[in-house]
Amino acid sequence: MSSSRIVVTGRIPDAGMELLRGAGDVWAWDRDEPIPTSVRDEQLATAEGVLTLITERVDDAFLDAAPNVRIVANVAVGYNNIDVAACAGRGVVVTNTPGVLTAATADVAIALMLMTTRRLVEGDRLVRSGAPWEWGMFMMLGSAIEGRRLGVIGMGSIGTAIAERAIAFGMEVVYHNRRPVDPALERRLGAQLVTLDELLATSHVVSLSCPYTPETHHLIDAAALDRMPTTSFLVNTARGPIVDEAALVEALRSGSIAGAGLDVYEDEPEVHPGLRELDNVVLLPHLGSATVEARDAMATLAARNFVEVLAGNPPLTPVTGSPTTPT
Ligand code: GLV
Repeated sequence: MSSSRIVVTGRIPDAGMELLRGAGDVWAWDRDEPIPTSVRDEQLATAEGVLTLITERVDDAFLDAAPNVRIVANVAVGYNNIDVAACAGRGVVVTNTPGVLTAATADVAIALMLMTTRRLVEGDRLVRSGAPWEWGMFMMLGSAIEGRRLGVIGMGSIGTAIAERAIAFGMEVVYHNRRPVDPALERRLGAQLVTLDELLATSHVVSLSCPYTPETHHLIDAAALDRMPTTSFLVNTARGPIVDEAALVEALRSGSIAGAGLDVYEDEPEVHPGLRELDNVVLLPHLGSATVEARDAMATLAARNFVEVLAGNPPLTPVTGSPTTPT
């Protein structure tokens, strides 16, 4: 039996590469910059499976270049970079890596919440600037989160992990989701399903952990930001285009919300220039799953999906969500 030809379109941890090498003949783009399309297409021509990163757009043009591909394994939980319907139409299995990056991403959401509400990054900037300072009763006061409400938009596994952590900080949780979560989970978290309007109007911190789909495009627009109290904060560890970034800049500038913590951007890796000028926003370079442990586990899970599908077995974590248009 000839071995399967596997293409990996970006650098992934060795743990994943070793598994792949055991499953077939692997070609990998081994530089940090994105793979040029011409190089990629030359490799795709004979590939039977492709491992993709979220920076790779898998659309009709990609699939046209890859006539023999049976699986696209995205090394990420989000898969808005993949045209799932186009893959399904060609019988190509799509997999993602749910579960293994849940804690890492929830940790970053909580970090952003603390960094914004307590002005921690502003504090770091002050100390580094060398400007004179000394402890002061009214110096750089932030706002408490204990006893306050967290509104989770998207109560999947990451939303749940964010809620669990927030509860440990003494917060109360409400959530907005396509459908109610398991009543046992609701009871354990003491979390109540509310309308988006109510969540926005009553939460001290609004945290986004929903997938990016046509329905969630600009879910947080000028009108939504207007509903949030002037003392409230927005945290986004999901996908940038869920927020209308220009409207967010305006809300942060005018003080119609108090602050924001962002790990993702509407036109990533571009960042709206208005955001960089503001002190009341914390900006991270998409670090949600960026731990050695999570990235090893993501690469391993993607590779295990590969091994199964190329051996003729069902994938471990197929993408079953509604079709999305890649962004
Ligand atoms: C990262 O953003 C992911 O979706 O895994």
